[in-house]
Amino acid sequence: MRRYRVFLLCTVGLCVISFLHYYKALHYVSLRELTAPYPFKSFILSTEDKPANLVPTPPRRNGLLFPKDSLWDPVEAMGDLHKRPHQLQDDPTAYFAHTKAGALCFRQGTEVATPKESTGKTGGAIGNSAAESSRVGQRKLAEVQSSNAPKPKSRGRPPGKRLVKCVCRPGWHGPYCGVPTMVYHSNLPTKERLTPREVPRRIINAININHEFDLLHARFHELSQAVDLFIVCESNFTAYGERRPLGFLQRLLNGTYDYMRQKLLYVFLDHFPDGGRQDGWIADDYLRTFLTRNGMSRVLGLRPDDVFVINDADEIPAREGLLFLKLFDGWTEPFALHMRKSLYGFFWKQFGSLEVISGCTVGMLRDVYDCDGIKLRRREYYTMPGFRKYENDTGHILVQWSLGSPIHFAGWHCSWCFTPEGIHFKLVAAQNGDFPRWGDYEDKRDLNYIRQLIRTGGWFDGSLPEYPPADPKEHMYAPRYMLDHYKQYRYLLENPYSQVSRTGGE
Ligand SMILES: *[C@@H]1O[C@H](CO)[C@@H](O)[C@H](O)[C@H]1NC(C)=O
Ligand SMILES: *[C@@H]1O[C@H](CO)[C@@H](O)[C@H](O)[C@H]1NC(C)=O
Ligand SMILES: *[C@@H]1O[C@H](CO)[C@@H](O)[C@H](O)[C@H]1NC(C)=O
Repeated sequence: MRRYRVFLLCTVGLCVISFLHYYKALHYVSLRELTAPYPFKSFILSTEDKPANLVPTPPRRNGLLFPKDSLWDPVEAMGDLHKRPHQLQDDPTAYFAHTKAGALCFRQGTEVATPKESTGKTGGAIGNSAAESSRVGQRKLAEVQSSNAPKPKSRGRPPGKRLVKCVCRPGWHGPYCGVPTMVYHSNLPTKERLTPREVPRRIINAININHEFDLLHARFHELSQAVDLFIVCESNFTAYGERRPLGFLQRLLNGTYDYMRQKLLYVFLDHFPDGGRQDGWIADDYLRTFLTRNGMSRVLGLRPDDVFVINDADEIPAREGLLFLKLFDGWTEPFALHMRKSLYGFFWKQFGSLEVISGCTVGMLRDVYDCDGIKLRRREYYTMPGFRKYENDTGHILVQWSLGSPIHFAGWHCSWCFTPEGIHFKLVAAQNGDFPRWGDYEDKRDLNYIRQLIRTGGWFDGSLPEYPPADPKEHMYAPRYMLDHYKQYRYLLENPYSQVSRTGGE
């Protein structure tokens, strides 16, 4: 307990120092950058009027970042951030291209010609014969689609007139090479009727954040290509009803998410629902309701066929699945995700998958689920009053399906994936309803006890895992961004307390 306090004090001290640096920097860096994604003149002017006073420097007192009488008021600091609307744009990326022979192919899923034949002309880079493409250094060329070179129009040519077929890369299927393995091996009933869209749907991914900040970076990087808008909701109440610092807001304001700033909508939940203290599930559900209602009401330019995906912060969908939903017509809704399940890190993998209903179109969200994300996560759409009317009005037949399978994962669910300090924090903040509430037991909050749980894969009730540690080389072991930033994420990629990992090379 004492060590934890010392650690906390140091962390808080560091935070204060970095804040001081940051606000000093504000005097030199134009505020326009902060506000750039929001083209509202009046707002830009009003902030430039008083850049120095915009955010008072947090005073250092008692080592607490948010003392009750602090001058640094996070609510003041956020200004109107939690009220600003977001205008959705169409994604101009050229996801499909025609081969020389006229086939319409999903660029990312299609083998391309050898570098010699495609020099400088990414637009014509898609190979037109199987022999040609099989010679290609497949992975090296996998990024051709990232080029913005002008490409042949992907519309106006009926698919029936294709002269040759697209040659798919491993992991991609279907006549357009746009169906990823996780959809190919799913229970989607309409696999034979998938057609590329002329204009991509916009994908909106909504989450509630507590302190899953490392997982959040992984989410943003995994999904930056597929998702058009992330709605992130944060409350100044824990799920237990106590005060919590606005850690996401702090990071949002200090530039941590500048690489994703244009795609972020901040939702601030400033109250705690009635009855939430007695029944924690009320608080838990209410977070999703507020996230969806408040967030979606501020999104401008929505179309009924855009896609809404709601996740917990520890559920990260794989990008290929969402990209498929974005680019194809013909799938049914609502859809679930089969996610790889693990505990404390990716090294303690559990059997099977976690299958959670995660999304639907914006039209269905409004008409069937009453714009409430918690209703979507429950499996009861057929009891919703708007269900039949929606089917009748749109001509869609609602059939739930799941991306992925217990073998072919469509995402990752990494449960309790924190450092021991983070797990301690989660225990203390947990809602009053997930019984037994381990945070109420002092010995379960002990950091050494928590370290030992991570080492053995055990649970707070004393049980041990029925599965061996996972093989880090397995497909879909962890989100790519984490594997690419191994040092930063090492604590989630290999067991920090097992002897074996100590001998592992850099
Ligand atoms: C922003 O704040 C967080 C939390 O206080 C800190 O960890 C991070 O280093 C800060 N980032 C920058 C760029 O100042
Ligand atoms: C959260 O913020 C609201 C609005 O500023 C405030 O009224 C409320 O007291 C805050 N809650 C806590 C626990 O600090
Ligand atoms: C179904 O739609 C038709 C035409 O749009 C309408 O006339 C009919 O009343 C609808 N039926 C139901 C049950 O909503």
